[in-house]
Amino acid sequence: MTTDPTDCSFGAQPRLYRDLADWYPLLTPVADYAEEAAFDRHLFEAHCRRPPRTLLDLGSGGGHNAAYLKATLACTLVDLAPAMLELGRRLNPECEHVLGDMRSVRLGRVFDCVLAHDAISYMASRADLQSAIATAFEHTAPGGVAMLQPDFVSETFTPGSETGGSDGDSRAMRYIEWRWKRAPGDGVYLTDMAYLLRDGSGAVEVFHDRHVMGLFPRADWLDLIAAAGFEPLAVPFEHSSYSDTGHEVFLGLRPAPGERT
Ligand SMILES: C[S@@+](CC[C@H](N)C(=O)[O-])C[C@H]1O[C@@H](n2cnc3c(N)ncnc32)[C@H](O)[C@@H]1O
Repeated sequence: MTTDPTDCSFGAQPRLYRDLADWYPLLTPVADYAEEAAFDRHLFEAHCRRPPRTLLDLGSGGGHNAAYLKATLACTLVDLAPAMLELGRRLNPECEHVLGDMRSVRLGRVFDCVLAHDAISYMASRADLQSAIATAFEHTAPGGVAMLQPDFVSETFTPGSETGGSDGDSRAMRYIEWRWKRAPGDGVYLTDMAYLLRDGSGAVEVFHDRHVMGLFPRADWLDLIAAAGFEPLAVPFEHSSYSDTGHEVFLGLRPAPGERT
């Protein structure tokens, strides 16, 4: 099977979030999120200028972050893909789940903490990123904090490939992830994924899935966060898998009444 290199499938959701969603927990097991969720919780507690009690997770996927964050935060999970929301519901039945697009969803209420974790990497144009940051701002309470965690910014992007996957009770999956840039400076990179899915009978199927991800300079992230009305901040990402990679997490601090940015 070949893929037209000019077809970035803009607008199409990867199969991983649609018909292959049931395999997602084997691709990225929930236990792998414990360290990162602890880091996120620490940042929320350090930067929220009100008691952090509520969280909105934009692009919540399988709810793997929420599985940890819900211990201290009442979580509302928003995702564009019904199959991913269903996974999240199974893992976190006590959390509120809402089908929505992080570029446009409006819930009509604010949260102490807003998280747009790796899902924000799917903002593949500056306009989409701007819209997603506006959504985060609209839903952040005064004195609250939004956290945006792109997989890469232009300065940290490295082309390359990785393998992974895990075994379930009766089935297993392995994958190859191959990141590359189609053209320098066009604001996106591609992640071509090959999944090997083995079912209980031992039969194996192979699928190709293209993920189109945005790639913007660090300064653009900070500018867009500030333009939305937040006080922007970049914080080194402390995680055992990312030491010395220069990865950062972006925060948007929404001023409390009477505060100026
Ligand atoms: C890698 S998963 C997120 C995993 C998540 N951090 C977790 O804890 O499980 C990426 C998710 O982003 C969602 N997504 C992509 N574009 C979106 C959009 N515009 N609005 C909302 N969700 C989106 C996908 O449907 C997918 O579930």
